[in-house]
Amino acid sequence: MGYKYLNMNQKYTVKDIERKKDYLSIKWGDNFKSKFHFLWLRDNCPTAIHPTANMRVFNILTISKDIFPKEYKLHNKKLKINWSEDKHESKFDLKWLRDHCYTEINNKKYKTPYIFWDGNLKKNFNKIKLDHNKIIRQDNYLKKWLELLHSYGFAIVRNSPTRKKSGFKILNRISHHRETFFGTPFEVINIPKPNNTAYTAQALRNHTDLPYFEYAPGYQFLHCLVNDATGGKSSVVDGFAIADYLRKKESDVFKLLTTTHVKFKDTDYTQKAIRILHSPIITLTKDNDFNDIRFSMAAMGAVDINPSKMKKFYEAYQYFASLLQNTKFKIDFRLEAGDIFCFNNRRVLHGRTEFDPNSGNRHLQGYYVERDEIIARLNYFNKIKV
Ligand code: OGA
Ligand code: ZN
Repeated sequence: MGYKYLNMNQKYTVKDIERKKDYLSIKWGDNFKSKFHFLWLRDNCPTAIHPTANMRVFNILTISKDIFPKEYKLHNKKLKINWSEDKHESKFDLKWLRDHCYTEINNKKYKTPYIFWDGNLKKNFNKIKLDHNKIIRQDNYLKKWLELLHSYGFAIVRNSPTRKKSGFKILNRISHHRETFFGTPFEVINIPKPNNTAYTAQALRNHTDLPYFEYAPGYQFLHCLVNDATGGKSSVVDGFAIADYLRKKESDVFKLLTTTHVKFKDTDYTQKAIRILHSPIITLTKDNDFNDIRFSMAAMGAVDINPSKMKKFYEAYQYFASLLQNTKFKIDFRLEAGDIFCFNNRRVLHGRTEFDPNSGNRHLQGYYVERDEIIARLNYFNKIKV
């Protein structure tokens, strides 16, 4: 304990400061060396930030690019700087500076928040099951749900009420929902003259919803109100785990799926809108982690890539589709009344088998929530500093 305290103390004390051409070089008590560029320092002067709104009020255009510290000194765990312009003085808290040291932040190796899973997760299915009322009542249990959603991209909330629209209560524990032209909740039930194949009794192959939106909904919550019909079994598969498998084992397929802009479209006859989006099936983040998966045989338009690329693309597409149905990766399960099937819609694909509407009723209500909302609430519970 004492040792740790000493270390923390050292980390936030300064051994040496040197003024270089564009930055101050600070050597800390633990011998780590940081660079703090003059413009960065002036822009992050504590007076630049509104005390309650916690937003920057300073205008970067009010200084020149040549601003520099005329004088600097340490005083009472603060770094004081007198600037060459505007007679301005800044007082930086040393702890704040070290915690925002971008030399250190950029040295850190990226660590993915995702835990990939495959068909074996079925053996530990209880791991992803949670209780509705505990989420409503306990913040630390709500946090557990959010952590599962963020890391596994999949959870089943059990024992929820089966009243219509009662899904709002648990979703509002997170935040507001994402609206779409389907309305909220959307009714997954077979109807005459369906405007979407989800509103039939037919099978839905594993897919992500709404891939034709530039910003497809981040999470989906399918609340099962009744499921008495024969058939209608659910399936779920981790698209990131499959993408990871391809990256490691089938790099040609991976390259095609991350670089070919395929066409997604929606021409719902009840809407006065035609939606078209070109995007790769797999996209990556700046850290080369997985960003999103867009896949729906139903919502795929007539692909319009260069003819010289069509054959190879179709081979890769078909291979990806086959992995989505492969029992090595996918899990089949049955939704019971009161279950809420929750998943990251830009990672995890979902589907159902055909059901017999004459044998009983099947009715789900669907809600979308943005990925931002899950992550922002987790940051809040984890007291993440910015
Ligand atoms: C959907 C859907 C699955 C189901 O409505 O988008 O995929 O089990 N439904 O009915
Ligand atoms: Zn769907």
